[in-house]
Amino acid sequence: MDIVVSGIRSTGKLHLGNYFGAIRNFVRMQRENKCFFFIADYHSLTTHPKPDDLHGNIKQVLAEFLACGIDPEVATVFIQSDIPEVPELYLLLNMNAYVGELQRTTSFKEKVRKQPDNVNAGLLTYPVLMAADIIIHKATKVPVGKDQEQHLEMTRRFARRFNTMYGVNYFPEPDAYNFGEKLIKIPGLDGSGKMGKSDDNGIYLSDSPEEIRKKVMKAVTDAGPTVPNQKMSVPIKNLFTIMSVVSDPATVKYYKEKYATCEIRYGEMKKQLAEDIIKFVTPIRERIIQISSDTKYLAKVVAEGAEKARASASATLRDVKEIIGYRKWI
Ligand code: TYM
Repeated sequence: MDIVVSGIRSTGKLHLGNYFGAIRNFVRMQRENKCFFFIADYHSLTTHPKPDDLHGNIKQVLAEFLACGIDPEVATVFIQSDIPEVPELYLLLNMNAYVGELQRTTSFKEKVRKQPDNVNAGLLTYPVLMAADIIIHKATKVPVGKDQEQHLEMTRRFARRFNTMYGVNYFPEPDAYNFGEKLIKIPGLDGSGKMGKSDDNGIYLSDSPEEIRKKVMKAVTDAGPTVPNQKMSVPIKNLFTIMSVVSDPATVKYYKEKYATCEIRYGEMKKQLAEDIIKFVTPIRERIIQISSDTKYLAKVVAEGAEKARASASATLRDVKEIIGYRKWI
């Protein structure tokens, strides 16, 4: 049995990328493994949410987690800031993380480029906090999307470095996990990159049918193929990638053939795609509405989750401090 840890930032509502990149795997993994799924609300502070929004965002993501099928009776579901052992391990790991390697991280370099006015130290040490989240439960598997691959590699490096530094074999080196398949990246509707919370290019699990239709019909396309079997442009490839996760294979095949023979009508394809997304999202959206109105239930889930997560985290932290050389004063 594996120990599985994975988290989602509480930066905004969950989108199809979060679902197909990570959450779908959580749901599959929870029955066979010891799973810890949490809401990374400390990580969300790098974007400076307003105090009035922070709690609402956490509550929203929690309800969405549960609406997707994560079962708090089976997995441990908790909020990162309820586990004080995590920031303590983060502090300890920071002593063995080097500024140079953190500055070279792709996600950090991207933030420096995209938001030069807010290059805070939390962004620089983001991978260290993520490593603490994971190794504090001595995880062996981490279901994530492709964008988190490098962070996982750094987690392994920090775990290995701790073991080497203190001559122990304490932390396992966790692997990114997607049931043997390649990690995936769901693209956005804007014709490039990935679907992201901060890029406003996505379909949210809480979007209404009208919103979904509007967004999909506005998705970027191109002028259409002019020769048979023409190489697809990135925006068209993106639409097919989204279609491949929500539509049935026969539908994808049909439109691929239409593309290959230059008979495709993007408007028609988008209509189909919108309806398939709606079919997929609607039951989840209905559960989100239902669950988010039950505040008592949500409070119970996180209280029980915090207790279980703290039991696991405090045992690790005790060992780690002992290994580092902290002793009782007797
Ligand atoms: P976050 O909140 O950006 O994303 C949560 C999960 O969704 C996946 N994901 C995607 N997968 C495929 N295509 C996309 N377009 C897409 N967008 C997001 C992410 O890969 C991720 O699995 N650093 C993490 C949160 C975190 C964490 C952890 C994860 C904090 N501590 C410990 C795992 C283990 C993050 O920002 O995820």
